[in-house]
Amino acid sequence: MKTKITEMFGIEHPIIQGGMHYVGFAELAAAVSNAGGLGIITGLTQRTPELLANEIRRCREMTDKPFGVNLTFLPSLSTPDYPGYIKAIIDGGIKAVETAGNNPQKWLPAMHEAGIKVIHKCTSVRHSLKAESIGCDAVSVDGFECGGHPGEDDIPNFILLPRAADELKIPFVASGGMADGRSLVAALALGAEGMNMGTRFIATQEAPVHENVKQAIVAASELDTRLVMRSLRNTERVLRNGAVDRLIAKEKELGANLKFEDIMAEVAGVYPKIMLEGTMEAGAWSCGMVAGLIHDVPTCKQLIDRIMAEADAIIRHQLAGFLRA
Ligand SMILES: Cc1cc2nc3c(=O)[nH]c(=O)nc-3n(C[C@H](O)[C@H](O)[C@H](O)COP(=O)(O)O)c2cc1C
Repeated sequence: MKTKITEMFGIEHPIIQGGMHYVGFAELAAAVSNAGGLGIITGLTQRTPELLANEIRRCREMTDKPFGVNLTFLPSLSTPDYPGYIKAIIDGGIKAVETAGNNPQKWLPAMHEAGIKVIHKCTSVRHSLKAESIGCDAVSVDGFECGGHPGEDDIPNFILLPRAADELKIPFVASGGMADGRSLVAALALGAEGMNMGTRFIATQEAPVHENVKQAIVAASELDTRLVMRSLRNTERVLRNGAVDRLIAKEKELGANLKFEDIMAEVAGVYPKIMLEGTMEAGAWSCGMVAGLIHDVPTCKQLIDRIMAEADAIIRHQLAGFLRA
């Protein structure tokens, strides 16, 4: 397939692996890129710019294909050294950056000067238009279904994507709820130029996370995610577990008085325990409703090849077959 996204990022298939905290290490990014998609290293999972530079070097040893880095601008306990991370990205020869969270305008000139294409993740049409107006090259439109932070508007992709298509001039990919060839064809039909997947890529052989995490996704249905931290305007879609139930009970009890400190035990510093150690009850971790469509743990190449073959068959046979001669 050739789309504006495959052309922009120099990739074979219009499939991007979204940045994921404690999942997007070099192993996964390289596997996705080697399979013809765009793999992405999660910048802030590397605690310092030096460690990110090292992770970029490790990834380059594993693939000669293009890969990117995610830089997330979300509320956090201490402000990361963003100038240092940007320098590591530029010095590392990266040509694709996925930004997410707050407005990345301040960082665009330096990245564009270095020949980097910036795709900003947005959960609304108005934020997508803002991204376009400040000079982002593409948008990843993240619907209400998505794992991670769906924003506060709660618009699912069946509405959000065609709305984005009606308004945007720059290309966009569909993100949230994407799993297979059906997702890709639907995304293209709704106006996207490709798709971004998070949760689906966790349940792959190469994702360097504990086996328990992969099995939790395979076991989960589309009914098993919950939204947390809404009252803090930092809504996150997570997989339900004991810690999430406790968190939700606190939210109910404290209502608008809830503070981040009240839920530290359930959300702060839990990713390494879950992703690396497989302690599944350690806290709340992002997971999309798409878990209901995930039933296996293939290699990234098997997954991407299967998606592309399925999409090809749907377009050529299933859809074309509906047309009267
Ligand atoms: C475990 C996990 C961690 C994530 N961490 C980040 C992150 O650090 N930065 C970011 O921009 N998006 C993050 N995301 C969001 C993904 O990049 C992607 O937008 C989202 O997963 C798409 O929805 P899907 O899970 O339905 O495919 C995360 C998602 C998951 C599931």
